[in-house]
Amino acid sequence: MAFLPSWACVLAGCVSAALAGASNLSDLYPPLWNESPGQFFNYKVENGKYVIDPWVFTDRMGLYKILLNQTATYFEKFAPENEQNILWGLPLQHGWQYSSGRLVDPTRKTNCGYESNHLCISVDSWWADMNYFLSVLPFLAALDSGIMDISADQVTLLPPPKDQAKFCYDVSGCRATFPDIINEWRTFFQHMQTSSITFEQLLKYLWNAHVASLEVSIKGFEDRYTYYSKEEANFGQNWAVSVNYLAASRVPTTLIRTYNFQKGLPPRVLTSADVAPFISNFTGLQNFVLVALDVIGDLHRYTGSLTLNIWKILMMTQAAREKFLQFFEMVFSAAS
Ligand SMILES: *[C@@H]1O[C@H](CO)[C@@H](O)[C@H](O)[C@H]1NC(C)=O
Ligand SMILES: *[C@@H]1O[C@H](CO)[C@@H](O)[C@H](O)[C@H]1NC(C)=O
Ligand SMILES: *[C@@H]1O[C@H](CO)[C@@H](O)[C@H](O)[C@H]1NC(C)=O
Repeated sequence: MAFLPSWACVLAGCVSAALAGASNLSDLYPPLWNESPGQFFNYKVENGKYVIDPWVFTDRMGLYKILLNQTATYFEKFAPENEQNILWGLPLQHGWQYSSGRLVDPTRKTNCGYESNHLCISVDSWWADMNYFLSVLPFLAALDSGIMDISADQVTLLPPPKDQAKFCYDVSGCRATFPDIINEWRTFFQHMQTSSITFEQLLKYLWNAHVASLEVSIKGFEDRYTYYSKEEANFGQNWAVSVNYLAASRVPTTLIRTYNFQKGLPPRVLTSADVAPFISNFTGLQNFVLVALDVIGDLHRYTGSLTLNIWKILMMTQAAREKFLQFFEMVFSAAS
């Protein structure tokens, strides 16, 4: 059991060391966090319901802000200031999508997401569509689990300008259309509320739900790939595959840790001229991550799910996950 103290430290992120540089946790919050609604009454009310437009960046980010706020109490026991809330991974990822230009209309037929309309989230953006299932659905599942101060039928989402049938708009609709996703997220939120739950167990339920969201959404938006360069489309697919490996390793998606991991992600949409590891204005880490994702993506495609199944077996023990996480962190701290 000698690994326990160090594992506890690894999981806690050894906050002081990892924080080096950022003296204020709010510096790590995603873009426009302060401008996003943090409470229900910041949204419009119509016919007794809060009306939220998830195709506006601040409205969608506001869902996360409420979610992080309402779940903070369950993560207090792990660290102060909500730093160990493992839901941070979601808004930070969405913030990266925004700041790297991945939420704009890739067809350029509209100005959605561009300068004069920069808060607009395009329904033609592959990233935005995938994220819908990792923002609206977890949010509605949380609402359905009774952890918010309002009842489940008091929130409704506005539809995008097209492809309305690919999404769902309120708790009952989402339960009916995407029962597996809602159930997995509900399971996470239910376990979160039990006082005996460990951090590791919570990570397991979180990643199960995350993977459930991706499994459904990945099939629904394949037509979007054609709007991007081959490099960007491949990156998106590789990223979606690799998330399964991160899930099996139960990477803790806490605030500081996710912030540091994201330094490895490409800061803008890839063009056909971008050949990793030779993208001149990307960092060494960003180039390395693109190559690594490519290798994982290729292995996955050539071996079917065999590689992932082997990885899942390897990652079955806590000791193995600890080693992987330490290795992962070493790569990131050495390269950044
Ligand atoms: C952290 O930053 C926020 C926003 O910039 C500021 O309001 C707050 O006072 C800062 N806290 C500390 C401890 O510096
Ligand atoms: C949650 O939001 C309320 C209202 O804005 C605020 O007073 C409180 O400090 C927030 N809690 C956390 C943990 O962020
Ligand atoms: C990065 O490099 C590409 C290709 O060399 C170039 O088109 C782009 O303008 C550069 N971007 C920045 C921010 O320097």
